[in-house]
Amino acid sequence: MGNSSELPCFFFFFFFSLLSPHSCSQSQQSCDSSDLNALQGFVEGLQSSDLGWSFNESSSSNCCTWVGISCDLGSALVKRVIGLDLSNKSLKGSVSSSLGGLDQLKQLNLSYNSLRGQVPAELFHLPHLELLDLSMNMLSGLIPAESNLSSIQVFNISFNSFNGTHLILAGSSNLSVYDVSSNSFWGPVDTGICNSSDSIQLLRFSANMFSGDFPAGFGNCGSLSELSLNTNGLTGTLPDDLFTLSSLTKLNLQGNALSGTVSTNIRNLSNLVHVEISFNNFSGVIPDVFDSLSELEYFAAFSNKLTGGLPPSLSNCSTLALLILGNNSLTGTIALNFRALPRLKHLILAWNFFSGCIPPDLPNCTQMQRLNLGTNNLVGEIPSSFKNFTSLAILWLSVNNFSNLFSALQILQSLPSLTDLALFENFHGGELFQLILGTTNPAELAQSYRPCAL
Ligand SMILES: *[C@@H]1O[C@H](CO)[C@@H](O)[C@H](O)[C@H]1NC(C)=O
Ligand SMILES: *[C@@H]1O[C@H](CO)[C@@H](O)[C@H](O)[C@H]1NC(C)=O
Ligand SMILES: *[C@@H]1O[C@H](CO)[C@@H](O)[C@H](O)[C@H]1NC(C)=O
Ligand SMILES: *[C@@H]1O[C@H](CO)[C@@H](O)[C@H](O)[C@H]1NC(C)=O
Ligand SMILES: *[C@@H]1O[C@H](CO)[C@@H](O)[C@H](O)[C@H]1NC(C)=O
Ligand SMILES: *[C@@H]1O[C@H](CO)[C@@H](O)[C@H](O)[C@H]1NC(C)=O
Ligand SMILES: *[C@@H]1O[C@H](CO)[C@@H](O)[C@H](O)[C@H]1NC(C)=O
Ligand SMILES: *[C@@H]1O[C@H](CO)[C@@H](O)[C@H](O)[C@H]1NC(C)=O
Ligand SMILES: *[C@@H]1O[C@H](CO)[C@@H](O)[C@H](O)[C@H]1NC(C)=O
Ligand SMILES: *[C@@H]1O[C@H](CO)[C@@H](O)[C@H](O)[C@H]1NC(C)=O
Ligand SMILES: *[C@@H]1O[C@H](CO)[C@@H](O)[C@H](O)[C@H]1NC(C)=O
Ligand SMILES: *[C@@H]1O[C@H](CO)[C@@H](O)[C@H](O)[C@H]1NC(C)=O
Repeated sequence: MGNSSELPCFFFFFFFSLLSPHSCSQSQQSCDSSDLNALQGFVEGLQSSDLGWSFNESSSSNCCTWVGISCDLGSALVKRVIGLDLSNKSLKGSVSSSLGGLDQLKQLNLSYNSLRGQVPAELFHLPHLELLDLSMNMLSGLIPAESNLSSIQVFNISFNSFNGTHLILAGSSNLSVYDVSSNSFWGPVDTGICNSSDSIQLLRFSANMFSGDFPAGFGNCGSLSELSLNTNGLTGTLPDDLFTLSSLTKLNLQGNALSGTVSTNIRNLSNLVHVEISFNNFSGVIPDVFDSLSELEYFAAFSNKLTGGLPPSLSNCSTLALLILGNNSLTGTIALNFRALPRLKHLILAWNFFSGCIPPDLPNCTQMQRLNLGTNNLVGEIPSSFKNFTSLAILWLSVNNFSNLFSALQILQSLPSLTDLALFENFHGGELFQLILGTTNPAELAQSYRPCAL
């Protein structure tokens, strides 16, 4: 019978609580006293806060109506706090250990504040916590190794000053997202994190001080979609099991000291969209497996020791938007089928040893904004097709052996989007000099203009 008398009130609360949270016999509801104590302890740990929580009035008995707090649904008169979202609330001070008293908490978001100091161990023992976001604070110190967040799914402590070794969250069988980027963690990257959960989709270790050889073991993270290890001090070669991660869409290894070749096994990662391996020590040829990477949009390998030519299969990569291979030791001609690369926006091949001419079908990349072919061994004239290169904003062709400056300027002067043009250290026949002096002897000019056949 108790049910039937509560039902109308329950429905009313359920459907209208967002509009008027006080409308349904507020006095009947209260939040659990241990939760209230935990919240009070948390506020006392802050230097300043503007939350408007009041532990002093009779209305304080229902903390569930306070800003940032959510409680369990249902008709129980005593509600438990299950969510605390105080992100971006200008909180200053430290995180009190009393938060550990919110033992039903499922979601805790304290991101985008100015919280400092160590995070109390109690926070890493909340048995129901599914989401922990402490990102964008000034928290520091060690994360206790004996942490136990058995229900955690999303773990984000990025953009703080934590140090020590990183947590592997052993026993967290539902872990899906793990982001410890932009801290001061050191030591090896422990792929033991892949042992506990089958559902890890994202691992971000970026911008720390991790060192040691690139570890084997990520192969156990079979559902991984993003692996980011960029901006650390990792050495060694890429282990084979990395190339079994068939769900991987983003691989960011930029800015380490990794060496060895890029294995042809990368063809197995057929869902790759974004590959960033710039600023490492990779050597050998770029594997000719791009026909298998049919989703690839971004491939950057700037500043490595790569040799050989452009892999012909790049022409089969019709989704490619960015190709950045500058500052390597690449050779051969720039002989891709640009008609097959309609989405290419950035092509950076500068600081290599490419030879031959500028491909006349480059303007078929009608979205191209940035083209940098500087500091190579390219010859010939700017193709007349460049008249149609209307999308082009940045064109760097400096330090090559191009000829016919007169024609180049005629072709380029009408490009409507061009804002940045570098042609220096080319045109070695003194053409600029001739142009300035008005030397227009057709025979003489024709001699120095050698049309370029690819
Ligand atoms: C609680 O209320 C009393 C009187 O209403 C007031 O004097 C006191 O400052 C309040 N304390 C806090 C912590 O708000
Ligand atoms: C935490 O709050 C911030 C700011 O509102 C939000 O951007 C972020 O997505 C939240 N974190 C999670 C894991 O939902
Ligand atoms: C934080 O709040 C400010 C103003 O209230 C807002 O402009 C900003 O977008 C918020 N930032 C995040 C990450 O939610
Ligand atoms: C971690 O917490 C869960 C749930 O509270 C518990 O069942 C488990 O025994 C704990 N594991 C360890 C290693 O303490
Ligand atoms: C973690 O938090 C940071 C800062 O709020 C955010 O930029 C980042 O996208 C988050 N990580 C994940 C994996 O959502
Ligand atoms: C780790 O962080 C703590 C707290 O900020 C600091 O006292 C300690 O010096 C740091 N350790 C190192 C090696 O940076
Ligand atoms: C993991 O998620 C499943 C499905 O949502 C759930 O049934 C299970 O209780 C969760 N396990 C833990 C330890 O939280
Ligand atoms: C993870 O599993 C591998 C075997 O697959 C094992 O060698 C390693 O010690 C485990 N790591 C942890 C931290 O459990
Ligand atoms: C790549 O896939 C092929 C077949 O699809 C398989 O035979 C091979 O073992 C895989 N290589 C790796 C390194 O996983
Ligand atoms: C790259 O390898 C060379 C030896 O081949 C070594 O001298 C150099 O220090 C390495 N550079 C980086 C950034 O690891
Ligand atoms: C490539 O550009 C030429 C010259 O503008 C044009 O005739 C041709 O149709 C283009 N081809 C493709 C596939 O866009
Ligand atoms: C420029 O494009 C027009 C039409 O798309 C085409 O007729 C013309 O041949 C092209 N010019 C050059 C130099 O490719």
